[in-house]
Amino acid sequence: MADALPLGATGARAATPSRTWRLDDGARQTLVLAATGDRLPQVVYWGAALPAGTDLATLAAAHAPDVTGGMLDETPELSLCPEAARSFPGQPGLALRAEDGTPLRPRFAYEGEEATDGLALRYRDAAQGLTLTVSLSADPATHILTLRTRLDADSPVRLDWLAAPVLPAPQHAQEMIDFSGRWVGEFQPQRTPWSPGLRLRENRTGRTGHEHFPGLIIPATGTTNTAGEAWAFHYGWSGGHRMIAEELPDGRRQIQWGHAAGTEPGPATRFETAPLYATYSDRGFNGCAIAFQRHVRDRVVPWPDPDRPRPVHYNCWEAVYFDHKLPVLKDIATRAADLGAERFVLDDGWFGRRDDDTSGLGDWQIDRRKWPDGLHPLIDHVHALGMSFGLWFEPEMVNPDSDLYRAHPDWALGAPDQTLGRQQMVLDMARAEVRDHLHAALSAIFRDHAIDYVKWDHNRVLPHPDAAQARGTYALLDRLRADFPGIEIESCASGGGRIDFGILARTHRVWLSDSNDALERLRIQHEAALFLPMAVTGSHVGPRRSHTSGRTLDISMRAWTAAQRHMGFEMDPRELTGHEAQVLRDVTAWWKRNRDWMTAADIHRLDSADPAVIAEQQQARDGARFVVFAGKAATSAQIAPRPLRLTALDPEATYRVELVNRADAPGLSRGMPALKAGPVDLPGTWLMRHGPVLPWSFPETMWVLEGRRL
Ligand code: GLA
Repeated sequence: MADALPLGATGARAATPSRTWRLDDGARQTLVLAATGDRLPQVVYWGAALPAGTDLATLAAAHAPDVTGGMLDETPELSLCPEAARSFPGQPGLALRAEDGTPLRPRFAYEGEEATDGLALRYRDAAQGLTLTVSLSADPATHILTLRTRLDADSPVRLDWLAAPVLPAPQHAQEMIDFSGRWVGEFQPQRTPWSPGLRLRENRTGRTGHEHFPGLIIPATGTTNTAGEAWAFHYGWSGGHRMIAEELPDGRRQIQWGHAAGTEPGPATRFETAPLYATYSDRGFNGCAIAFQRHVRDRVVPWPDPDRPRPVHYNCWEAVYFDHKLPVLKDIATRAADLGAERFVLDDGWFGRRDDDTSGLGDWQIDRRKWPDGLHPLIDHVHALGMSFGLWFEPEMVNPDSDLYRAHPDWALGAPDQTLGRQQMVLDMARAEVRDHLHAALSAIFRDHAIDYVKWDHNRVLPHPDAAQARGTYALLDRLRADFPGIEIESCASGGGRIDFGILARTHRVWLSDSNDALERLRIQHEAALFLPMAVTGSHVGPRRSHTSGRTLDISMRAWTAAQRHMGFEMDPRELTGHEAQVLRDVTAWWKRNRDWMTAADIHRLDSADPAVIAEQQQARDGARFVVFAGKAATSAQIAPRPLRLTALDPEATYRVELVNRADAPGLSRGMPALKAGPVDLPGTWLMRHGPVLPWSFPETMWVLEGRRL
């Protein structure tokens, strides 16, 4: 039948690429680019490492799809920046207008390459005076690819959309996983089936946001935490992003990332995307997760002193809120130090006239009503207890009821009658005088006080998104860090509203969530580990009865959940019973004994056979030791605990495994599984293929299992 169709000659030719490039990250992944003639190259392969001698031209020719009726005579390239001018059937990688608004449809041609660690390919549309530079590099230690696109124009142009280098998505994948979230409910994975057309996630809040974490994972069918293939992406930008995952009419799929559309409102001669971080894994989601974790910790975060152990925090927010009284805070500090805290953070309420959230933001002078002798008496007390001192700021914000707003109402972004968010407005960080003012105000506090830590908050969305705002914030952070290089900074935005690798290139910790409810935190931490290492992820022991959920949780569950990440306390220590204080002291001491290797460890998420159990295995880089946290988030359906299979062990080796908190087994655990009695020596194969059998336990409890290779 097919022969009878009047197709005739299609005009299609076997495309022979004129240029090919390959990018390898050592032995795990290869990305191959090929270009036809002088056109922009396309990714013709991204996956498991190819043999060294692979003929790339042959590979590119073999990749070319056939053409049938109803198609163009040649399939337009899914290039690193798909061009509207070349009949590309999906969203182009660039949407541009001349200064007068006339749409421009560039056709780029190869111009040259720049010398870099990876590839930097320069393309030019001479007629329209445009240059496009795409850069790609692969990190052999972390397995992360970093990709950027830059557009230079001879005269100013208007940008509607610029994608970071566009990557194809595998056609055999059936779904994609991206993330939504909300206040006290960050990192909620969303699974969407692939189908023709596009899925667009656009964050128009002007900050990274709880609602649309800029991450995407494309699993092959059947991929789990520990096995199978996955391709993962993160856009490192704090100003709001757009993600496009599109299946084209011909079945190919593309992934685009860039700044949220329309956030570059003015004409300019240069536009650049943020870095897009991407990775391929053939070892389940954990392969992607560990690549991101290592890259954040070892490449992105600018540690002032990488060898300094992460100090145990105490943060007073949920203990006193705005009610600052020196004797109370000194008492709390003494108790916190006794529990094991090493850094005391004074949260919101110390400046301006800040008795609640209606006033004072912008007035970064110490409130002499609450602090007649300044902060020094508290800082001296904290130091005498052997702790360092940290302070809360929310520099980009202003309350209309503040001296700053009264003096400079024009410094606020947006209309004067805009709807406020938490009674506040956003300062226009694109203005140099605003940044200078904030730099001077914060510097004055930093100069006069021994501060080693800043909690930098951002508690409302922008009235309208604008990339210049994020650039202004980055500039202020960079300037302050240059002037005060010893200060560590935590990125907070009503909890996890500003978590991305752009802000993490300037900060050292994220406040993952305002939820100190250990049960909720367990889940949020588990999902966030797809991108974040322990070293940067703050986690605090909250009040007995959570202030954000009303749930009452046992101290053991609260303490061990915080001990999974960068540990701290945030409850009022005066509420602790003697027993609770002792549990907290013990778990904190355990954390301090283990933090050195845990800070550098990989977090492997485990595939628990019991959906009530959320479990992970933190494993030292040399594989010599690990700790498993198995949190029971709900009541199990079956009566006996299911074995929990571990991962990434040496199958040949024997491990000594020990249930650290076996004394926590409740009376209803009546039997004697071996781990309840003491350490057990077991082979790696058994631990991975059968899995340890944990004692029966109540919901809302955590088992902690340590292992060492013998
Ligand atoms: C935000 C933060 C909290 C706390 C308050 C202070 O909500 O997420 O941790 O710092 O601001 O106002």
